[in-house]
Amino acid sequence: MISRQTIDAIFSAARVEEVIGDFVNLKRAGSNLKGLSPFTDEKTPSFMVSPAKQIWKDFSTGKGGNVVTFLMEHEQFSYPEALRWLAKKYNIEIEEDQEQTQEQKDELKLKESLYLISEFAKKFFIEQLNETEEGQNIGLSYFKERGFTKSTVEKFDLGYSPSKRNAFTEFASAKGYGKNLLEASGLSIYKENSEVGFDRFRERVIFPIHSFSGRTLGFGGRILRKDVKAAKYLNSPESEIYHKSKILYGISQSKQAILKQNECLLVEGYTDVISLHQSGVENVVASSGTALTPDQIRLIKRLTPNIILIYDGDTAGIKASFRGIDLILEQELNVKVLLLPDGEDPDSFARKHSSEEIQRYIAENSTDFIRFKANVLLEEAQNDPIKKSELIRDIVQSISLIPNIIQREVYVQETARLMEIREETLFKELQQNLRRKTKTEIEKKQTTTGTTSLEVVKKEEITVNNRMILEEEIIRLIMQYGDLIVELESAEKTAYETTVIEEIMSQFNENELKFQNSVYQSILEDVKKGYEENELRTGDFFIRLFDSEKTEVASESLIEKYSLSENWQKKLKIYIKSKEENIAKILNDVLLRYKGIFVEDTIREFSELLKEETISGEIRQEQMEKIMKLTEVRARLFKELNRII
Ligand code: CTP
Ligand code: MN
Repeated sequence: MISRQTIDAIFSAARVEEVIGDFVNLKRAGSNLKGLSPFTDEKTPSFMVSPAKQIWKDFSTGKGGNVVTFLMEHEQFSYPEALRWLAKKYNIEIEEDQEQTQEQKDELKLKESLYLISEFAKKFFIEQLNETEEGQNIGLSYFKERGFTKSTVEKFDLGYSPSKRNAFTEFASAKGYGKNLLEASGLSIYKENSEVGFDRFRERVIFPIHSFSGRTLGFGGRILRKDVKAAKYLNSPESEIYHKSKILYGISQSKQAILKQNECLLVEGYTDVISLHQSGVENVVASSGTALTPDQIRLIKRLTPNIILIYDGDTAGIKASFRGIDLILEQELNVKVLLLPDGEDPDSFARKHSSEEIQRYIAENSTDFIRFKANVLLEEAQNDPIKKSELIRDIVQSISLIPNIIQREVYVQETARLMEIREETLFKELQQNLRRKTKTEIEKKQTTTGTTSLEVVKKEEITVNNRMILEEEIIRLIMQYGDLIVELESAEKTAYETTVIEEIMSQFNENELKFQNSVYQSILEDVKKGYEENELRTGDFFIRLFDSEKTEVASESLIEKYSLSENWQKKLKIYIKSKEENIAKILNDVLLRYKGIFVEDTIREFSELLKEETISGEIRQEQMEKIMKLTEVRARLFKELNRII
C-alpha cells in the first residue's frame, strides 16, 4: 500500500498537461489545451485538457478524469501502477504504508534486479542482431527471409543470441551481474556446483516478451538450424517476474489497437502476432502455444470484452479447445471463432493479404462461439435424437457459465431457434445448471471457510449467484449513466421522468435495500450525500476521489462497455432504440431482479423463523401473513419481469 502522504505528494506534483503531453500532441485553445483523441481515430480534435482544473475530457468517447485516470485509461495501468509511474516521472520517493518485512524487501530487490538484467539482456541481443557479422548473416537474414521488415524487427525488439556457448553470460558477468541473478533470470544455466555458466538461448533468434506496460519479462528463442534435435522454441523459465500463465505475447505492442477497436484477436504463436502487425492488423496477442488461463483473460478484459479466437486447426483440435473457451465465457467476455482457409495459419495468411482484406475476412467469417459450438455438434449429431439432447445439454452448460443475465437470455433464444426447441425447455435446463453451479460454489466456499450450517447454504444457494452480478450492474449504471434523464413507468402505468441515480436511490429507500458489497454500499452513501447537496455523483466524481477502492470501481465501470454485438442487439428488441430508452429498460430490469432477490431472501428468513417451536401463535399468524404478502409481491415482480423479457 502506497501511503496517503505519497499519494498526496504525487497528486500535487503531477501536471495533467505534462503527463498527457507525453502521449498526445496538445495545442493551446483558450484556457484549455486541445488534441486528437488518443482513444479513437478522429480527424478533428475533441480531446481537451484543462491545466487550471487539472482534468481532461475526451468528447469523442465521453471519457474523462484526472491525471491518474488518464494513465489508467491510456496505459491500462491499475491505480497503484499509475501512481508508481507518476512517482518515477516526478522523482517522488514512494513510502509504503506498512513497514515491510526484510523478506518483502528482499523480494522487491530481487524483482528489481530481474527487471534490470532482462532489460540488459534485451539490449545485448538486439545489438548482436544488428551490429555483429554473425547476427546479421544468420539472425537478420532469417528475419528478412521470413519477410519481416526492419521496422517490424525494431517494433518487437527482436534479437539474436550468438553461437558461442557463453557469449551473454561472459558479457553480463564482466558487467557485474552475479551468478545468482543470471541463474534466477534463466538467461544462464549453471551445471551443478559449477561456477561457469552458459547461455540458455545460444544460437537462436530472440523474441523478447513484454509486460502490459512494456517491461521486459523474459524471452522466447527460436532455433534456426534444422539438423539438430532440439525444441523449436525455448522460453525463459518461471521466475519472480516471468509467469507464463500471466503473460500474453504482444500485449504491450497491441494494447492501443485492442482498445481502439474494442476487439482482441487471439493467435497461437509469436510469428502470428508479428506478421499480423506487419500487415496492419495490430489488435492481436498470442497465448504462446498454451491453453488460455484466467489471468490471461483478465489481461484482455482490461482492454475489451470481445475476443476472436483464430484457428488454423481442424474441427478435432477446435473441439478440444471447447473447455478453454468456457473459461472465457465465465469471465463475461464475448467469444467468436474464426477459421482460416485450409492450410493457412495467421502468419501465412497475413503475409498474403492486406489489412483491409484481413479485416473483411474476419468480419465476414467469425462466428459467435455458442453458435459455432452448436453447429459443430449439430453436424456430429446428425439426426440422432439422443446425441442431440446431449448436445443441447452441452450448449446450455456453456451458456450457464455466462454471468450476465441479459446475455444469457439472448443466447437461450438463439439456441432455441437453432435447435428447433422451445425456449422454456432450455430455460428449465439452464436453471438446473445454475442451481448446481451455485451449490458447488458454496460447497467450495464451505470447505475453505469451514462453515457447515445448512441454513446458510440454502439461503445462499439462490441468492449468491445473481446478487453480485446485479450489484455490479447497478453500480455501473450509476457510474456511467447516473445523471441521464430517463422515462419510466410507475406501478399505476403513468410515465414519469427521473434520473438514473434518483430512481436507484428511491427504489433502495422504498424497499430498504442494501448492497452486500461494502464498497458499493459506501459509494451509494456518497451518492446520497451528494444528492442532498444538489449534486449527481457519477463516475466523474468517484474517479477523482483519493480512495483507491472507489476509484477502481469507478474506472472499471467506466471502462466496461455494454458489448452485446449488433447482431444480438437486433434480436433483443429492447436494444434497438435510443440510448436513453435502452438504459431505462436495463435500469428497470436490473432493479426488478434485485428486488426479487430481496423478497426471496426475506420470505426464506420468515419461513426459517416459523420452524422454531417456541414461537407463539400470535407471532406465527403475523409471520404467515407477511409471507403471504411477500409471496404476492414476488408473483407480481415475476409477472412484470416476464412481461419485459
Ligand atoms: N511454442 C513453444 N515451444 C515449442 C513450440 C512452440 O513455446 N517447442 C510456442 C511458441 O510461443 C510458438 C507457439 O507455441 O510461437 C506456436 O507454435 P508454432 O506454431 O510451432 O510456432 P510459430 O510461432 O508458428 O513459429 P514458426 O512460424 O517460426 O514455426
Ligand atoms: Mn508458424
